[in-house]
Amino acid sequence: MNITSVKARTILDSRASWTVEADVTLEGGFFGRASVPYGKSRGKYEAKYLPAADAVTNINTKIRKALVGSDGSDVESIHNRLVALDQTPDKHNLGANAFLSVEVAAAKAAAAAEGLELYEYLGGYLGNKKYELPVPLVDLLMGGLHRVQGEDRMEKVADNFQNTQITFEKAKSFREATTLGRDVYLALSKITLSRFGPDRHKTGEDGGFACFEGCRGLLDTAEEAIEAAGLNLKDVGIVVDAAASHWKVHGGYTVDGKILTTGELVDFYVELTNDYFMKGFEDPFDQDDVEGSAELTRKIGDKALIIGDDLTATNVGRLTMLKEKGALNSLLIKLNQAGSLWDGILTTRFALKNGIVPIPSHRSGETDETFASDLAVACPNIHPTFRVHQKIGAPAKGERVAKYNRLLRIEEKLLGQ
Ligand code: PGA
Ligand code: ZN
Repeated sequence: MNITSVKARTILDSRASWTVEADVTLEGGFFGRASVPYGKSRGKYEAKYLPAADAVTNINTKIRKALVGSDGSDVESIHNRLVALDQTPDKHNLGANAFLSVEVAAAKAAAAAEGLELYEYLGGYLGNKKYELPVPLVDLLMGGLHRVQGEDRMEKVADNFQNTQITFEKAKSFREATTLGRDVYLALSKITLSRFGPDRHKTGEDGGFACFEGCRGLLDTAEEAIEAAGLNLKDVGIVVDAAASHWKVHGGYTVDGKILTTGELVDFYVELTNDYFMKGFEDPFDQDDVEGSAELTRKIGDKALIIGDDLTATNVGRLTMLKEKGALNSLLIKLNQAGSLWDGILTTRFALKNGIVPIPSHRSGETDETFASDLAVACPNIHPTFRVHQKIGAPAKGERVAKYNRLLRIEEKLLGQ
């Protein structure tokens, strides 16, 4: 089915920054629209974007000319046409944000043309027909670069975990996990208000409460909220995003007022795993400290997710290297790190084939786009211990809530309600 129109514009994201939104229409009027998120805690291996206005100009001129009148039903062939037009290894002529928005919008239009839900269309690319809801990573507390909302990086060196999240792997449904997550979030709101006072009672980038305590302080506060919500600590897993590339100082990592070597940081995480119900560590070391990540995976990878984010950058070449070194058992799938939907699909396929758990993820700068929720439902559960998760943020703030709500609706449909 041929593409009849391609059109883009800039729209606002959750940080009041402009980002790209693209529309693609196919013959018969089948329509798809997609917008692009943007990270603040970005890794150095991510695809490079153009300023949103430049990417929009490229879509409305060169890309429109190249795609209108050609087949719009297959992600790979659209991607190959964009690659041929761009002619650079890092997509810098057209912009990775132009690639991503057009490929995702086209995928939505193609799914509509085939009469499929988006997760079914994506499941076709991932060899999956058994759709299950992901386990949500519910964000409670924001530290590091995410503590303060806004485009500027206020802190040069972060001093605690960027995200402290909870997970309910034993919940019987996505709705139940969301309900429990929300209960803890609301209990936490009261605790942080009384602890930090109204002036410091703020939410950070992803809707979690800004926290000024050290790493152990974050975990203690999370536990307090879990208990205040009437839950048993052992029924709630804790997953942190250390974003440790931002902790790096000369000679080691700054953690809770001390400077630790890689080996000492491994020991610190093992201690935390003994002291709390830890279920995962994202970017526990600097993005180039592959050895640290491998050592931690050897020590606790059977009971906790060791998740790559800046480490992996949704890049299949990086993932291949990291898998060979045994440096992780899971990774975030952020399509805008990969720079295109097709590159993201290739990375996800590699992960699934190699027993690495994919976690489709939002970014700190978000729109109401819900594509990652469909992608999470499209990913099969391939690991004997760990289910597919989705990193969504707090169950509050419109741009995060849009993703939870998309999953609530998908679950209703899958249950035939
Ligand atoms: P970012 O952070 O979207 O600001 O890069 C999110 C994360 O580190 O997972
Ligand atoms: Zn991260």
